[in-house]
Amino acid sequence: MFLFSTCQVGAETVFKKEVLRLFPSFRLSFSRPGFLTFKAPEQTPEQTMDAVFQFVNRSVFARTAALSIGKVQQEKSESTEDFTAIADKIWEIAEQNRVFVNRIHVFRRDLLPPGVNGFEPTGQTPELQILYNILVERSPKPKFLGTNHHNSQQQALPEETVMSVVEVDPGNYFVGIHTISAESPIQSYYPGGILPLEIPDNAVSRAWLKFEEGIRWAGFPIVEGDCCLDIGASPGGGSQVLLARGATVLGVDPAAIDPVVLNHPQFTHLQNRISQTKRMLYRNVRWLIADMNVAPNYTLEVLEELANRKEIPLCGMLFTLKLFQWQLADHLPSYAERLRCWGFNDVRIKQLAFNRQEVMVAASRQLSVAGSQ
Ligand SMILES: C[S@@+](CC[C@H](N)C(=O)[O-])C[C@H]1O[C@@H](n2cnc3c(N)ncnc32)[C@H](O)[C@@H]1O
Repeated sequence: MFLFSTCQVGAETVFKKEVLRLFPSFRLSFSRPGFLTFKAPEQTPEQTMDAVFQFVNRSVFARTAALSIGKVQQEKSESTEDFTAIADKIWEIAEQNRVFVNRIHVFRRDLLPPGVNGFEPTGQTPELQILYNILVERSPKPKFLGTNHHNSQQQALPEETVMSVVEVDPGNYFVGIHTISAESPIQSYYPGGILPLEIPDNAVSRAWLKFEEGIRWAGFPIVEGDCCLDIGASPGGGSQVLLARGATVLGVDPAAIDPVVLNHPQFTHLQNRISQTKRMLYRNVRWLIADMNVAPNYTLEVLEELANRKEIPLCGMLFTLKLFQWQLADHLPSYAERLRCWGFNDVRIKQLAFNRQEVMVAASRQLSVAGSQ
């Protein structure tokens, strides 16, 4: 059996290493930037779907994963006729594998790392929307059980079986399936594991994207009136995500905050390094986000000190760890363990679609939810 997975361009080497550590019986089979396939031992259908779920849930670097059921190669992928031929071949593969699907996800692998030359992962192109439309149109009922499919970015629903068609290169597609369970991480619901987020016009930094994605992924129930601390807040994109949820925000950073955020009535700027601020100020903080451009050990030292203060009613922390060298990824399991020792029973680490060479960590003190590391 083969699994395929997408990841950030550049993360392939650490991703392969992680897979071999987590799943020693898997072998790398094929690799392109941002797209890898692995050969895994043969299993029953239930075990197979569980393996796909475990894969995406336990790996930091797997953005999405599916059981590979076949490949389609077509010399040209330009005209409606080309896409019709591709769609028919895809349905043939589904037929051969006796697959019934409720949802179709069509996306391409990333071509660049996020943020480089203005690239942001969407997985979508106008041509792939055409392929999606033709796939829906030519679906041989009852192989395809979905209804109301107009948009290739549509979110799947729990219990659905999703057929993913990944454009690895134009004219070269991998076809796979995965099922959605209540425990599936939020990314599994979306084509390519990418939440369809668009940076708003008034966002003051790209960090808006990663914290909007991060909060949705972590499922932190931040509500109106919650007091939040943002460490490394400048220029303020992460704080905007919190303010939009009605929170009050203490933003700590020696650097300047954009006036759009600074003038918000629920924002306070503590213009200092975190080590130089008074802990008394944090006595109401329920949620903490952090995004300092420092080594992971420094971030963890700062957070440990705050997390261990009994007077701070902290429910959860969402923060980036910068992988200045990719080898720092080797330490991620020990970082997760360290966070558990501070009393966080749900600790998750993921390289989210909008993260750059960094990972997002969510640690909360609530009852455990999906995707615990
Ligand atoms: C990547 S930027 C943060 C972007 C920001 N989170 C946003 O949403 O726009 C990193 C920031 O971390 C800040 N920083 C670094 N070390 C810090 C420390 N010890 N205390 C507070 N801020 C720190 C830097 O001044 C810098 O502005």
